[in-house]
This record gives sequence, structure tokens and C-alpha cells, in this order.
Amino acid sequence: MSQAKSENIPPQNTAQGENVVTVNYNGKSSVFPVLKGSMGDHVVDIRNLKKNLDLFTFDPGLGGTASCESKITYIDGDKGVLLYRGYPIAQLAEQSNFAEVSYLLLYGNLPTRQEYEVFVDRLNEHALLHEQIRNFFNGFRRDAHPMSILCGTVAGLSAFYPEGTDISNEASRDRSAINLIAKIPTLAAWAYKYSLGEPFVYPRSDYSYTENFLNMMFARPTEPYKVNPILSRALDRIFILHADHEQNASTSTVRLAGSTGAHPFACIAAGIAALWGPAHGGANEAVLKMLNAIGRKENIPSFIEKVKDKNSEVRLMGFGHRVYKNFDPRAQIMQSTCYEVLRELGVKKEPLLELAVELEERALKDDYFVERKLYPNVDFYSGIIFKAMGIPTSMFTVLFAVARTVGWVSQWKEAFDDPLRRIYRPRQHYTGPVERNMKTSYWL
Ligand code: SDX
Repeated sequence: MSQAKSENIPPQNTAQGENVVTVNYNGKSSVFPVLKGSMGDHVVDIRNLKKNLDLFTFDPGLGGTASCESKITYIDGDKGVLLYRGYPIAQLAEQSNFAEVSYLLLYGNLPTRQEYEVFVDRLNEHALLHEQIRNFFNGFRRDAHPMSILCGTVAGLSAFYPEGTDISNEASRDRSAINLIAKIPTLAAWAYKYSLGEPFVYPRSDYSYTENFLNMMFARPTEPYKVNPILSRALDRIFILHADHEQNASTSTVRLAGSTGAHPFACIAAGIAALWGPAHGGANEAVLKMLNAIGRKENIPSFIEKVKDKNSEVRLMGFGHRVYKNFDPRAQIMQSTCYEVLRELGVKKEPLLELAVELEERALKDDYFVERKLYPNVDFYSGIIFKAMGIPTSMFTVLFAVARTVGWVSQWKEAFDDPLRRIYRPRQHYTGPVERNMKTSYWL
């Protein structure tokens, strides 16, 4: 891992022609190289902007800024394309499983049979938690939000793996990645069990990753529990859909924390904290609350009018996306999975689904949403599926975190292989008081 030095900034660009951007400012002119990726938008390398023209860029929300180079996930927001290491999300959702996709995200290629079996064995071997971790839960109220428990226990887990701070070698980073992917389902399920006051269920090596999670969530010592294979397959597919999504808010948080050299478990805890927000991973929980508040189809027109009234500050949760200005490919797979799960469960009529479908149909015909290119995102249907599976609303974002952990650790690991790696330290556009002197204090 090379700690990039500031001299890593590209040499004064002498390139001319179409692969440059020329900026003229304050009587000076400077040329900046345009970098072409393997797919998607080109980027202008402005690392010399301050040095050459004494200028910063200003990009609140970083919507127009590439914060890093990555080879993991590609999104084309205009075409509704999502690729994990080049593989279309629909193919992976249909043909792969979460453990195989986790290997792909972490190591860059689909595993051979032997690599897959070794990987799964490693995850099984590390799924158990140190027995003392059980004490962490007792510090929380039983009604604590499970995201607060997950955030706290993941950060606390770093104390049991002090070697995790040794980020200087790939083997140590890989061990931390495996530990996190393996243990997050156990912590998540135990957060749920703790909220119920039920005994914790241990992970088992004879179950798949997702079967294990369902077993730890719903098994009880009083009677045998059989994992429903259809539900397990559906949840495994949902985990695939949530596994990674390039430089979203929580992943950027993990990369930023990782750039300081912090313990990887602390970096993932920071990602969990960022994911919790309703504008991000907390939206799946917010969608259910929104649908319950709307209640009936008759109330949809007045709700949509409220959304369109800026003063109401009401948003159509599960709609819109910073990058997708077309359908979120995950939302379409999520909707079909929703019907599959309800059919499997024999749910003939799910009022919330009917309400969601009607709400989507009306919004997609309404100019307000069409003009702003607002489409359903990954969170619009997920909550309805989780509810049908018997998962409480407060656990929806926890499940998102379970799935996204592999994306977070893959992106965290990738940063260490980047020769341009350096601590994240954005600047600002300052509009505060100019320098001024204190008057003599009245009371001194
Ligand atoms: C996730 O980044 C990722 O990749 C995230 C994610 C992942 O996998 O990691 O995909 C997961 O977080 C999905 C998003 C979940 N959040 C929600 O569903 C919450 C509702 N959506 C919005 O809050 C919003 O769409 C965001 C936060 C998702 C995106 O916000 P942006 O890009 O900052 O969009 P914006 O606020 O600039 O909106 C542009 C316009 C504005 O109107 P105008 O000022 O132009 O008149 O669209 C409006 C917004 O008011 N708008 C909405 C809206 N989303 C945007 N209006 C009503 N309802 C909405 N949901």
C-alpha cells in the first residue's frame, strides 16, 4: 500500500486537443487532463487547480465529483444500468447467490468451485462472536433501535480484534473483511433477539449465509425451525441487490474513515451510521411508515399534492435517486420478488403492495415526478417484502446494512491498493466573518 504523496499530483499537463479542459481565470490559463474510464463519464483531473489557478471547485453534495477511482461497481443512471465487476445485476440476482457475489465484489472475479468452498468455510468459521460480546447488548434498552445496537456493537467489536489496526498488509485487511462479512448477520440477528428478550441463536455451518441469518432471526429453543427455502432464496437475492452501489453516502463515509487508517470495524460502524438516515438506507423503513400513513388508495391524490407542495417538506419515500434518472434496476427485481414472496406465503391480498403499486403508477404519470426524473428506487418495495417475511420495520435498514457490509469492506480494501490513496480532506467555500479583533472584554 503506498501512501500517496502530494507530488503524486499529475505533472503539468502539456496534452492538447480533446482530452483536456482549459480553464481561464484571473488572467491565467491552465490545462487539465480528461481521464477516460473503462465505461461511463470521463473525469477532469483538477488536482492542480489550486496550484495553477489558486481555485477550489465547489460541489455541495459531491454530485458532480468523482472522489476516487474504482473497479468494483458501475452505474449508468440514465440507462438504469448496474454492474458488479462488470456483471449485470439482473444476471447475478437470477443466477448467483450472496456468498458468490460477495467473493466477486471482494476479489474481482467469480470464484472457482474450490475458491467458493474455501470462502464459504472461512465465513462459517468466523460467524461466531466472542462470548463477551453478549454483554454489549445488555447496555441497550430493549426498545433501542436495532441500528443503534448494530452501530454500537460493530464499533465495540474492534476491541476484540486489535490486530485490525494493522492495515499495512493485505492479509490483515483480508482477515478483517472476512470477519466483518461473517459476523454482521450474527450481530444483526442478535439485535433482533435482544429486542424480543429471546435467547440468542448461534450461527451454524450447515446453513448458507442467508439461511443462517433467517435461522438466527427466527429459530427458538422451544421448537424446531425450518428455514423456508423460497423465502431464503428471495432474501438472498435481496442481499445481492443491496450489496454495493459505488460511492453512495455510506460507502463514501467508510472510504473517508478508512483514509485516516482507522480500525476497519470502526470504519464500517461509521458506514452503518450514515446508512441509517431516511434519505439513504433508512428509506425502506420510511416507505412503510409512509404507506401506513396514506392508508387507502383514496388518499393517494392528496398525498401526492402534499409531496408537490415544497412547504410540506413531505417526500415520496422510496422514490428518486442522485444517480438513477431512469428506473433503478434493483427496484424492478424487488417488485417481482415481492409478488413471489407473497405468493409463496399464500398472501392473496396485501393492501400495502396494492397501495404501493397504485402510488407508483400515479407518480410515474405526474409531471412533477416525470420532469424531475423521479422513479422508484431500491427501497420502494423492500419493506413490503420484509414485512411479509415477518421482519419488523425497525429491522429493515439493519438488513440493508447486513448486505452492504460486503460492498463497504470491498471498497475499503480497494482504497489501499490505490497509488493515489491519501487522507480525505475536502476544502470549503468560506462565507463567514472576515478577520476582526476582540474588543476589551467587559468583564476582565
Ligand atoms: C438509497 O446513493 C445511492 O446509491 C443510495 C442507494 C444505495 O444503494 O446506496 O441507492 C440507496 O439511499 C436510495 C435512496 C433512498 N432514499 C429515498 O428514497 C428518500 C427519498 N428520496 C429523496 O430524498 C432523494 O431523491 C434522494 C435523497 C434519494 C436524492 O436526493 P438528490 O439527488 O439530492 O435529489 P434532489 O433533492 O436534488 O431532488 C431533485 C428534485 C428536487 O426538487 P426541485 O428542488 O428540483 O423542485 O427532486 C425533488 C427535490 O425536491 N425530489 C423529490 C424526491 N426526491 C427528489 N420530491 C419528492 N419526493 C422525493 N422522493
